[in-house]
Amino acid sequence: MDMITGTFVKADNILFGSLLFVSTISLLLFIISKTKILSSKSIKNLPPGPPRLPIIGNLHQVGDNPIVSTASLARQYGPLISLRLGQKLLVVASSPEAAMGVLKTQDRFLSSRPVPAAFKHPDYAPHALLWAAECNQTWKNLRTLCRAHLFSGKALESQSGLRAEKVSQMVDFLRRKQGQVIDVEDVLFTTLYNTLTSIVFGKDMLQLEDGDGNTRDPQKESVRKIIEYGSRVKDFGVFFPMLDRFDLHGTKKGTLKEYAKLFGPYWDGIIEERRAVVNSSTWSSDQAQCFLDRLLENKFTNYQIYQFVMELFVAGSNTTTSAVVWAMSELLRHNEVKSKLEEELQKEIKLDQINVSQLSELTYLQSCIKETYRLHPSVPLLLPRVANETCEVMNYTIPKNAMVFVNVWAMGRDPKVWHEPLRYMPERFTDSKLDFKGQDFEFIPFGSGRRICAGMPSGIKSVEYLLATLVREFAWTLPNGDDPSKLDLENKMGLAMKRVYPLKLIFKQK
Ligand code: HEM
Ligand SMILES: *[C@@H]1O[C@H](CO)[C@@H](O)[C@H](O)[C@H]1NC(C)=O
Ligand SMILES: *[C@@H]1O[C@H](CO)[C@@H](O)[C@H](O)[C@H]1NC(C)=O
Ligand SMILES: *[C@@H]1O[C@H](CO)[C@@H](O)[C@H](O)[C@H]1NC(C)=O
Ligand SMILES: *[C@@H]1O[C@H](CO)[C@@H](O)[C@H](O)[C@H]1NC(C)=O
Ligand SMILES: *[C@@H]1O[C@H](CO)[C@@H](O)[C@H](O)[C@H]1NC(C)=O
Ligand SMILES: *[C@@H]1O[C@H](CO)[C@@H](O)[C@H](O)[C@H]1NC(C)=O
Repeated sequence: MDMITGTFVKADNILFGSLLFVSTISLLLFIISKTKILSSKSIKNLPPGPPRLPIIGNLHQVGDNPIVSTASLARQYGPLISLRLGQKLLVVASSPEAAMGVLKTQDRFLSSRPVPAAFKHPDYAPHALLWAAECNQTWKNLRTLCRAHLFSGKALESQSGLRAEKVSQMVDFLRRKQGQVIDVEDVLFTTLYNTLTSIVFGKDMLQLEDGDGNTRDPQKESVRKIIEYGSRVKDFGVFFPMLDRFDLHGTKKGTLKEYAKLFGPYWDGIIEERRAVVNSSTWSSDQAQCFLDRLLENKFTNYQIYQFVMELFVAGSNTTTSAVVWAMSELLRHNEVKSKLEEELQKEIKLDQINVSQLSELTYLQSCIKETYRLHPSVPLLLPRVANETCEVMNYTIPKNAMVFVNVWAMGRDPKVWHEPLRYMPERFTDSKLDFKGQDFEFIPFGSGRRICAGMPSGIKSVEYLLATLVREFAWTLPNGDDPSKLDLENKMGLAMKRVYPLKLIFKQK
């Protein structure tokens, strides 16, 4: 058994892994027993879906790219489909009407999350926001804490100095490295991660310089491992829930607790230092220097801080990086758009240093960003929801415990909604009121309803600021004089939608 499990976790190809798994007799029996209990035949009026094989259900149709496969199933079976994966029932919404049914009309019953086993550890669970199983008081308190001290207008204003400092560190770095080939994703990720750690802990955590071999930043490696782990849980645990339990028992090193220990050496010192200050008799709230102080005031333990802060870092840095990288990829492919954006920035920004609050008023910049979210939403299926009660969407039954996804990637490319959907054309947003704040259900890259992205105001600011800076300060070219119009747009699913081929560019100061 151990050997089989080992093969699994290492297997890159999920489908291959799954088939291997399915061939294991003892587990087959386990699944059969589960399938019987939850047999779909007993539920009437499910959303339509493709015929199922015994035991594995629709596993083979979903394959290892669920975004694309569920989009094509939706074209065949309609905007709300149901699929069975092993013992789990999955519902996928892929039209504005279906999305509204899930995220607005039935928001109350569809706002729980299926939590991967690894995140259910009693030391962490109560302080999960992203992985909070239900929208209970604890989840509400965490969102309120974030809103008040991280994402309110006032909080963002007070972070603007830090934000500017991190961006100028990035600009200095790219100036020093002019003419060299740069891994854009790595530079952006590091900048965003350091922005978040400065806001939370009051200091940078990662080096911009990405050494190779022995000189690699060990903390960066740890962060990468955590995110990879998170993505794996997402693929394995959510789409293949029958594998979920292996994350808990199957791998000795792969548990969340094990990974959280990686942070200890970097975080514990700061946590203890601030805890002593916050716990002193002379402490008052207006002395707070960073978000950590707020957590300590609320009596968070170290594990609870790991859980909560890690979620914010993971949810915040990879998504934002993905948005900027995709925007740059599209600008490279569309020189006329890039020139128009350069013109706008030159005309509107007179000062040496960009004024962040001004960026939200630059219409072409906003249109370019929206068009990027439309074609390349960072979280293409939103985060998984689960029905905590049986309810109805578009007159179909969503049974209790069904998992629910919204395929925003498919919605952004739907010819019924968008004119020439595959064309990158920011102008389509110029005279449109369409916005991504969760009210217009044809365009919801941040989700909608009570589980809408908690960090949206911060994510938006970062994308605007980084993109505007990189366009204004530098000329970018592909290595080897490659033709930018041929730039590859293949993507793959991870925690955030990422490019299959990392974007590597040469920067030159303007
Ligand atoms: C461009 C950047 C970003 C995008 C596109 C994005 C997108 C999303 C999406 C689609 C969801 C799931 C919503 C749903 O289930 O309906 C989500 C949830 C979340 N995001 Fe973001 N996000 C971004 C940036 C950030 C940042 C910067 C942070 C924090 C620093 C953050 C923190 C969170 C959290 C905590 C949740 C979970 C909310 C909950 O479950 O109640 N995100 N995000
Ligand atoms: C489902 O969640 C909603 C709020 O998110 C709550 O009001 C309701 O009581 C929950 N139902 C059950 C059966 O837990
Ligand atoms: C809310 O749910 C979480 C599980 O997601 C649990 O750990 C926590 O104790 C709950 N809080 C309340 C107040 O019931
Ligand atoms: C997200 O993080 C993982 C793990 O470090 C990395 O492999 C991936 O390239 C990142 N994606 C983006 C878009 O930054
Ligand atoms: C906080 O201070 C009190 C005494 O003022 C002490 O008993 C307690 O152990 C301290 N807690 C921590 C976590 O340092
Ligand atoms: C930045 O822009 C905003 C809005 O355009 C303006 O109110 C503010 O005064 C500007 N700040 C600086 C330092 O120029
Ligand atoms: C659902 O059923 C009601 C009445 O049975 C009908 O009025 C309504 O149009 C139906 N909605 C959809 C989306 O089919």
